[in-house]
Amino acid sequence: MSTIYIHWPFCLSKCHYCDFSSIPLNGSIDFDLWVALYNKIILRILNDFYKDESITSIYFGGGTPSLLPPSFVAEILNLIDDACDVEKEAEITLEVNPLTINLRDAKRFKAAGINRLSIGVQSIIDADLKMLGRIHGAYEAKNCVLEMSEVFNNISIDLIYNRPGQRLEAWIDELHEALLLPIQHVSLYELIVEDGTAMKRMIESGELPRPSEGSEFIETTWMIAENCHFHRYEVSNFSKPGFVGRHNLSYWKYEDYYGIGPGAHSRIKLNGRKVAIEQAKDIGDWISFASNDEPFELIELTESEEFDERLIMGLRAEIGIDIDIVKIDRNKMQFLLKNSYIMLRDSRMSLTNDGLLKLNLIVEYLSGKRDENIIKQ
Ligand SMILES: C[S@@+](CC[C@H](N)C(=O)[O-])C[C@H]1O[C@@H](n2cnc3c(N)ncnc32)[C@H](O)[C@@H]1O
Ligand code: SF4
Repeated sequence: MSTIYIHWPFCLSKCHYCDFSSIPLNGSIDFDLWVALYNKIILRILNDFYKDESITSIYFGGGTPSLLPPSFVAEILNLIDDACDVEKEAEITLEVNPLTINLRDAKRFKAAGINRLSIGVQSIIDADLKMLGRIHGAYEAKNCVLEMSEVFNNISIDLIYNRPGQRLEAWIDELHEALLLPIQHVSLYELIVEDGTAMKRMIESGELPRPSEGSEFIETTWMIAENCHFHRYEVSNFSKPGFVGRHNLSYWKYEDYYGIGPGAHSRIKLNGRKVAIEQAKDIGDWISFASNDEPFELIELTESEEFDERLIMGLRAEIGIDIDIVKIDRNKMQFLLKNSYIMLRDSRMSLTNDGLLKLNLIVEYLSGKRDENIIKQ
C-alpha cells in the first residue's frame, strides 16, 4: 500500500507564519505547461519505482491547489488511475484556501474524483486572520465550509492556536464555535514561529507579543476536541468516527509515498531499504528537471535515519510504533513506562498524554541524542 502526494506551490499571497514550500502567484500561469510537466514526472516516478501495490490515498497539497482548474486535477487523476491500481475507496483530498473555490468548481472537483477537502480556516476571528496574513475574513472562512458541505461529506478544517496575544478563554470560545461547523475532521496546530517568516520578524521587533509558553493551550485544546466528539488520533488531528485521515495515517505508519512537484519528497522501499527522493524546491530548477528528464536523485537512508523517521512519525500517532520492527532499548522503555510516558499494547508502543507533551524530547532520548535527564526536567 502506498500514497501519492501532488504539491502545487503557488498561493495568492504568503501568510505571515508560513514556511511551507509556497510562493505568491506573480502573473498568470501556463496551466497546459504545468499539467504536462506533472504528468511527465508522475509517469517517470511510477515507471521507475511503482511495484503494483494499491494506492490508498492521493493528496493535492500546497501551496494552494484549490487555485488549480478542476480539469487539471481531473487530468492528473485519470493519468494516475490508468497508471496504477488506485483503490476503489481511495481517499482523494484537495487542500482549499477559502476565497479560492466556488460551488461550481467544487462540483467539478468532485466529478474529477476529489472526495475530501481540507480547508485552511486558521481562525474565525477577523483581527486574528489579519494578523496571520490570511486573504480571507471569518465570514468567508465559515461560509466556505458551509458551501462546501453542500457538495462534500468529508471535510476537514485547519485551525492555528496559541497565536500572539491570544487569550485562552477566547480560544476556548472560538474552538467551540468552529467545531459546530459541518465538518468531520479537524487539524488543530499550535503556532510554530518559524525562522525567516514575517511573523518571526514582527515578534522580534515587538510589533506582536510572543505566544505563551507551557502546555495549557495544548491540553485545553485536546480536552475540548474530545468533549465535542472529535477523537484525537494524532498530536494535531481529530476525527469523528470513521473519518480518520488515511493519507496522514499512512505517513505515520511509515508506508511508501510518491511525492510530485517542486519541493515534494518521496519515501520508497527499494531492496529492503527506504530511499528518499527530494525534488528541487526552486520553481525554475524544478521546471528544468522535469522538462529535461533529469534523473531522480536517490538518497538511501541509513539504518539510524530510518529508525529516527519511524520514531518521529509513529510516536505522533495513537497507533504508535511496532516494537518488533523498531527495536527500542529495553532500559529506555522501562524508564518511559515507569514514568507513564508510554503505553504498550501487544507489540505496539504509543505515547500517553504526558508523553505526547514531550514528544520531541522522547524521540531524541530513544534515538540516543539525549539522556533521560532531559525528560525529567
Ligand atoms: C500547507 S498549509 C495548507 C492549507 C492552505 N494552503 C491554506 O493555508 O489555506 C497546511 C496547514 O499547516 C498549518 N500551518 C502552516 N504553518 C504553520 C505554523 N507556522 N504553525 C502552525 N501551523 C501551521 C496551517 O493550519 C495550514 O493550513
Ligand atoms: S495559503 Fe497555505 S501554503 Fe499558502 S502561504 Fe498561506 S498557509 Fe502557506
